Amino acid sequence: MTTRKTSIKPSPFPDPRPREIYALVLAAGVGKRMHSRTAKVLHPLAGKPMVRYVVEAALEARVQRVVVIVGDQADEVQSAVGSRDRRVGFCVQEHPLGTGHAVLSAEKALKGLEGTLLILNGDLPSLLPSTLRTFLDFHFQAGAPLTLLTAVIPEPGNYGRIVRNYNSEVARIVEATDATPEERQIKEINAGIYCVQLSHLFKHLRQAGANNAQGEVYLTELVEILRHSHRKVAAYCHPDSEEVLGVNNRRELARAGKTLFLRKAAELMDAGVTILDPECTYVETPAKVGRDTVLAPLTFLAGETTIGENCRIGAGTRISDSVLGDEVEVLDHCVITRCRIARGSRIGPFAHLRPETDLAEGVRIGNFVEVKKSRIGRGSKANHLAYLGDAEIGSGVNVGAGVITCNYDGEKKHKTILEDGVFVGSDSQMVAPVRVRKGAYIGSGSTITKEVPPYALALARGRQVNIEDWVKKRKKKHR
Ligand code: UD1
Ligand code: CA
Repeated sequence: MTTRKTSIKPSPFPDPRPREIYALVLAAGVGKRMHSRTAKVLHPLAGKPMVRYVVEAALEARVQRVVVIVGDQADEVQSAVGSRDRRVGFCVQEHPLGTGHAVLSAEKALKGLEGTLLILNGDLPSLLPSTLRTFLDFHFQAGAPLTLLTAVIPEPGNYGRIVRNYNSEVARIVEATDATPEERQIKEINAGIYCVQLSHLFKHLRQAGANNAQGEVYLTELVEILRHSHRKVAAYCHPDSEEVLGVNNRRELARAGKTLFLRKAAELMDAGVTILDPECTYVETPAKVGRDTVLAPLTFLAGETTIGENCRIGAGTRISDSVLGDEVEVLDHCVITRCRIARGSRIGPFAHLRPETDLAEGVRIGNFVEVKKSRIGRGSKANHLAYLGDAEIGSGVNVGAGVITCNYDGEKKHKTILEDGVFVGSDSQMVAPVRVRKGAYIGSGSTITKEVPPYALALARGRQVNIEDWVKKRKKKHR
């Protein structure tokens, strides 16, 4: 590891890692630089809100408890984090008066706890649990009351700079807005990830003022305060800066999103998924993809989507919150939302499968077919230009080109039922509610308004009339 030279020599008798490790996630800020109505930590990246990544990383690093400081849009942030894990709690910072103030507002919530506190900015979506574990181990080895996680970046922009003394020990952190031109040249930045012994935290942090360009209580002032009382501050310089850079604006949001998509693609490839071009494939963090499945470029797999093994997903297809069995083929340019598609089905190109669609094995849905809230049985086909809404379709049904279920009467939605083995001729309309019994046959161009008995032929269209020599006669008249 290319860890930068640090001010602290590892202790010859490193502490065994203590059990009492807690985490505090700062998520009460407004995020002005996002220029958004939505609090910064709520912005989604690769399928999850920013703050959730941070909380999950802390949990996976095996901390005992995570306290999330909420303030701006507190309720929304709380529900974005979720309340399923009993190790997660919340604490309110009434006004966003700075990161130091945020930590101080957790004093009550952490009262009586002893041990180590991991403090994490809430805007670190790419942070890995393994990094936190390494960082914690480093902290215990260093034996300082406070350890910072830093990174070296060529363009340190608005990040706080790590100022080191002649001994290259950490002396203080200076915020970009308060830095001198010389300090602004410093390339080592504060990542907003800290490890602190609880016994040193509050009594020292309470001394922090708001005497700075932003008029806020800075958590970063803790460094100087500890140094003044002759304590050491250690720093662990993380080699992968991309992973630990906070998201403050939309550009950084896009960059972090890209990191997450690439990370997911790499994970999938390592597990046996073929991705033709990982740079242009967008699989969100919660999605799962089975072995030997092939993802073409511009595939977007969103939310809680599960794709089986040996599937092929065509270019420009978006699948959200859906479950696909094994050997499903989705050709190019399909949109599939909240659907279940069983093994061996083939969809597209250019198909639109809308919520609550459930396709059994071996179903074929072809080009320009829209399906909504419908169940389609084994081996049934709708290959061209159809709309199937609120339909219950049995197995072995053939839906011809241009068939439409007229499911909406202007007030209510009604059901169309096509039983097993039905054949619907092209360009027919099924005026719902309507049922076509087993094995029946609908003649092309029919408008079906009444139940069709089993194995019947239904014809519901104008009869054809041929008028002999009509064209010739008309021509004569015009002359
Ligand atoms: C902070 C650090 C800076 C570091 C950078 C890394 C301070 C003073 N500065 O700056 O040294 O380089 O992070 O990304 O800490 N928050 C609250 N309550 C508040 C203010 C902020 O909970 O009153 C939360 C925010 O929601 C955010 C986190 O704290 O998740 C960091 O706040 P932010 O405003 O992004 O700090 P930076 O200016 O980036
Ligand atoms: Ca930040």
